[in-house]
Amino acid sequence: MPHPDIPLSRLIAHRGLSARAPENTLIAVREAKQAGCDWVELDVQLLGDGTPVIWHDANIRRCSDGRGRLGDLDLATARRLDAGGWFGDAFRGERMATLEEMLVLLDELKMGVNLELKVNRGRDPHALVDTALPEVMETLPPARRLVSSFSDTALARARTLAGPESLALGVLFETIGRDWRSRCEPVQAYSVHADWRRLKKTRVREVIEAGYRLLCYTANDPTAFAPRWQWGVEAVISDDPMRFAGHLPAT
Ligand code: G3P
Ligand code: MG
Repeated sequence: MPHPDIPLSRLIAHRGLSARAPENTLIAVREAKQAGCDWVELDVQLLGDGTPVIWHDANIRRCSDGRGRLGDLDLATARRLDAGGWFGDAFRGERMATLEEMLVLLDELKMGVNLELKVNRGRDPHALVDTALPEVMETLPPARRLVSSFSDTALARARTLAGPESLALGVLFETIGRDWRSRCEPVQAYSVHADWRRLKKTRVREVIEAGYRLLCYTANDPTAFAPRWQWGVEAVISDDPMRFAGHLPAT
């Protein structure tokens, strides 16, 4: 399984420090760093004009003061949105981040990113990968990037573009089924990312014995999560990862 060796942190801030700042924004990444996190998980999608931006939902209603589909916006319109006020007055005026400016910030802060290629319904996975991946690979070194997706089409495209060795890919699962290998082997995955609530100990063992790292999303209760560390889980993706700091297994 060729892949770069990644000094992955055990604690990864989901959408930035999304418990304390508006998700997927620059301020959420700065807050993660300030809280002591060296890795963040972020979602990337394309605007209608092809600009890659850091955003989770298919529409802009939940996390901005606008309405409508992300895929219908151009950059100028997207930049006029307030992407922070919905979270709290202190964040009013925060703007939707482009992938480009987010990568610059991550590099400046020397942070690692688990970038999720978010292929919402009706969106083109190839266009997303072809636009976003070169930016990621040009800006961040291999040891500070892990690209993941629920979309096998996106993952396959990423592997084709990146070649066999220079990019760590993570396969996202809601449930790790019996046939999990059929999604990991074709893309020479580095890691398996699973919903922690649906995870079974036997599957964890299979995944780890096959040589993959196992990451869990999105856990916020360190006590309930605790047995998974003993199973061999590598990292937790959490809205408030520092809650887990006192619960980590000895290394
Ligand atoms: O990458 C892990 C997690 O972010 C996947 O779910 O919906 O939060 O992007 P979601
Ligand atoms: Mg995500």
